[in-house]
Amino acid sequence: MQSVATYYLGADEAERARLLAQCELHRREAAQLLDRVGVAYGTRVLDVGCGPLGVLDILSVRVGPAGQVIGLDNEPRMLAYAEQTIREGELATVELIQGDATRSGLPEDSFDGVHERLVLINHPSPQDVVREIVRVTRPGGWVAVQEVDMYSWMCDPGHAAWDELLETLRRVWSANGSDPFIGRQLATLLRRAGLVDVDGDAHAYRWHPGHPYQTLLLTFIDIYRHQLLEAQLLDEERLDHLTDELCKHLDSPDTFVVHPILFQAWGRKPV
Ligand SMILES: C[S@@+](CC[C@H](N)C(=O)[O-])C[C@H]1O[C@@H](n2cnc3c(N)ncnc32)[C@H](O)[C@@H]1O
Repeated sequence: MQSVATYYLGADEAERARLLAQCELHRREAAQLLDRVGVAYGTRVLDVGCGPLGVLDILSVRVGPAGQVIGLDNEPRMLAYAEQTIREGELATVELIQGDATRSGLPEDSFDGVHERLVLINHPSPQDVVREIVRVTRPGGWVAVQEVDMYSWMCDPGHAAWDELLETLRRVWSANGSDPFIGRQLATLLRRAGLVDVDGDAHAYRWHPGHPYQTLLLTFIDIYRHQLLEAQLLDEERLDHLTDELCKHLDSPDTFVVHPILFQAWGRKPV
């Protein structure tokens, strides 16, 4: 049976801004990854779950005016945001398609390369997404995937409020069918889907007070506030207390945060 996925982070303006900022955060690593797989001039490539931008702009530069970039997303509001980004960036070779990452309806073997970032972590059946990515890639074509892994997400010095809120978030994600430890599994997922020449990399980031990602955990707690209260993972008083405590701690000049590690994996569809 095909899996049905919900993107719990929504598609409001705040999520759009969060995703566009995240594109900037990961821009250098995305460019390195696409250099590695060798996105050739004039080729036809796909970004699955592109959101308001994904890597459409980087791909568009790589394939040039002779190539074609398709952005796929199942959320019409994300596609509307992407359309605006494309218009503003004058990305002439980019087209957008509404479709599901597990049953895109795109023809088999029809892309020279396919990329996805941060879709698998939000999907209850990541192997179905990878299977579809491999299906639409032509023999000899490349696949590149990027996902975070919560393993490295920490603050130093540690704090009890951090630990409790992080565990609460992990439980919310698990209840939603997301796997916050998907990053480390990427290379295995690609190999199991039949790809060859599979390899991988990982990137870490460190934040300080005043940087927006210093308080990313609190941002997520706020996004999921309603859900975690409804599921009675915490009561309102406890949640507000932990949030206040952590806010103060993360604001201290001595506190730094290490971001969830960004894993990348790539491979080729056998000829
Ligand atoms: C965390 S965002 C990442 C966006 C983009 N890949 C990036 O890295 O900036 C996840 C995106 O995947 C899309 N998405 C989630 N589930 C999907 C599905 N089943 N099929 C297609 N798109 C999906 C969401 O609408 C959202 O735009």
